[in-house]
Amino acid sequence: MSPPSLDLDTPPQALNPDEAARLVESLREVIRHHDYLYYVEARPEISDGEYDRLFRRLQELEEAFPHLITADSPTQRVAGEPREDLPTLRHAAPMLSLDSTNEAAEVRRFDERVRKGLGGRAVEYLLEPKLDGVSLELVYEAGVLVRAVTRGNGEEGEGVTENVRTIPTVPLRLRDRVRPVPPFLSVRGEVLMYLSDFEALNQQLVEEGLEPLANPRNAAAGALRQLDARITARRPLDLLAYDILALEGAEFKEDREVLEALRDWGLKTPERVALASTVEEILEYHASYARDRDRLDYEIDGIVVKVNDLAARAVLGTTSRHPRWALAFKFEPRKEITRVERIVVSVGRTGVLTPVALLRPVEVGGVTVSRASLHNRDELRRKDIREGDLVRIQRAGDVIPQVVERVEEPSRERKPPFEMPDRCPACGSPVKIRGPFTFCPNRFGCPAQLKGRIVHFAGRRALDIEGLGDEKASLLVDRGLVRELADLFDLSVEDLKGLPGFADKAATNLVEGIRRAKSTELRRFLFALGIPEVGEAVARDLAEHFLKVVRTRAAVEKGEGRGAGSDLAAEALDALRRASQEELQQIDGIGPRMADEIYDFFQDPRNAEAIDRILAKGIRFREAVGQEGGALAGKRFVFTGALERLSRSQAKALVEGAGGRVMSGVSRETDYVVAGSEAGSKLDKARELGTRVLSEEEFLRLLEEAGVRVP
Ligand code: IVH
Repeated sequence: MSPPSLDLDTPPQALNPDEAARLVESLREVIRHHDYLYYVEARPEISDGEYDRLFRRLQELEEAFPHLITADSPTQRVAGEPREDLPTLRHAAPMLSLDSTNEAAEVRRFDERVRKGLGGRAVEYLLEPKLDGVSLELVYEAGVLVRAVTRGNGEEGEGVTENVRTIPTVPLRLRDRVRPVPPFLSVRGEVLMYLSDFEALNQQLVEEGLEPLANPRNAAAGALRQLDARITARRPLDLLAYDILALEGAEFKEDREVLEALRDWGLKTPERVALASTVEEILEYHASYARDRDRLDYEIDGIVVKVNDLAARAVLGTTSRHPRWALAFKFEPRKEITRVERIVVSVGRTGVLTPVALLRPVEVGGVTVSRASLHNRDELRRKDIREGDLVRIQRAGDVIPQVVERVEEPSRERKPPFEMPDRCPACGSPVKIRGPFTFCPNRFGCPAQLKGRIVHFAGRRALDIEGLGDEKASLLVDRGLVRELADLFDLSVEDLKGLPGFADKAATNLVEGIRRAKSTELRRFLFALGIPEVGEAVARDLAEHFLKVVRTRAAVEKGEGRGAGSDLAAEALDALRRASQEELQQIDGIGPRMADEIYDFFQDPRNAEAIDRILAKGIRFREAVGQEGGALAGKRFVFTGALERLSRSQAKALVEGAGGRVMSGVSRETDYVVAGSEAGSKLDKARELGTRVLSEEEFLRLLEEAGVRVP
């Protein structure tokens, strides 16, 4: 119900600024309250029409009095311009992960350890569903949402504030009707996409000629990582909060109170939270949730058991990765029965031939499954799966569906066993056999391997080129547009326009995505190359090792650290390409076998030429090489307003090149706010906090003093 005093009719011109300011504030409060009732509590008190009227009134007043617009106004959920990349931001406290099990016996052992750790005291556990979404940190300063950060490596993640602001259940300002708002609050929660929304989204993607997403979690993760918040706004997401990472100005004794406070502050929390004091009660809760799991409209993959008493948690402490006071008790993977319609052989980027069962489509926990890997020749023989067989399949989390076993059908006649082909189905080369694996040795000529390499190269954790999945990669190879990875960088909108699946913006988006990918980090680039045995972690270790080597060398040669980062990263890559097996083996975690593979890869002249051709397309590394040594090491910058001499991304690259960091929001940790023309609320915030504010000129001078070359 809107208070009778709310003036919805006086034309804005007839209001004086003070009246307008008061009215805008009241409208916002009322709208926030109705947002809360509608989205969080799902019990609206006014009609959509009445709500729209309030909202339009606020918009109208903000238009007439633009100086009244604040970032936390309900009208400001969706930001204007797309960004060029997502900033890396540090969490207020590490975001740990949970130890997990799917056995009751492990739960018993956990309970014993907890009791022992607490000197035999009675223990109370808080039980929650384990939500299968994307973990996120939300930071509120003085009740206002200032940043949202993905979990990343647990220490730092990607700043996705603009995107998270579009999630209707995330308050832009905490409610203070029930409980005072703390000066600082960092919340952990899970971003979800509902199964029904996921299905609808996939249908829409398919209709647009795009590839469907694998599961709701990937869909949520993808939506969160958009550079354009307007796209995120169109993806239906929800956020459930379940933990406080850091807090000032309030204290709690129990986790139960924490959840209550989160709800009071206007956040949504998981459903059906319960308390338990025995393992039996935990098992019962687990079983009951397992039974109801299929009736939920979102994915949960188990329950979480947490010690309720916060002082007891402190006593138990954490290992380097997991708290000792919590355990994820997972569900058994979901199983379904279906028929193998056909067995085909797919060739991956490394040339391995994998038998794949094409299944009669079946729904497994809300996701339709139509293919499953049969792994290799030995597995195929061991499970004795043939075309036409009835099989039991399972899907655990986002793991590719597995064929568990064959279901006997005594009266049915079976087809003969499936034989792996002796020629590569993609290029016809005679296959080679290594242990249980069959592979195609035609590394450089086989189109299937090239397709796989393209998809890997473009992957999210590699060069992160959106819209370049299996289908698009196949198309590019089949049409002869891409004969090797470097060709990707020559693709033009004209090349793509009109190809199936490249309607309207898809062509421009892909070309733009490829262009953006030229600016990357060395570790991503190394991972993207698809060097045998080199996964993400090894790629990172290699990058770090060789960056250190060249940095030390540069410091010795010049007697000082250096500013510009891109050259150092390119030198590091050169050093890696020239490294001997012995040198590689000295890196932690790289054994003789891996060292050989890496060495062989870089020594093969065809690889070396392919890499040179990719680099020649203008790859630039933006490793923050100065992290320990740069002149701006550890300094945190925030940009607001438009700069004249530099683009935002140039400014960012310069700061990062000198070891500084660029954050999206102003907080007490910000060292400098660089204010261009038409600086917005961040400038106000900086003044409020007393943060040092630099004009563009002062910023350029600071860079100069730091020895950074400004282009
Ligand atoms: S508590 C330190 N509670 O499960 C403990 N986690 O590794 C913090 N998750 O990625 C986590 N539902 O994001 C907690 N009710 C819940 C959860 C939950 C899902 C996620 C969490 C993390 C993973 C566990």
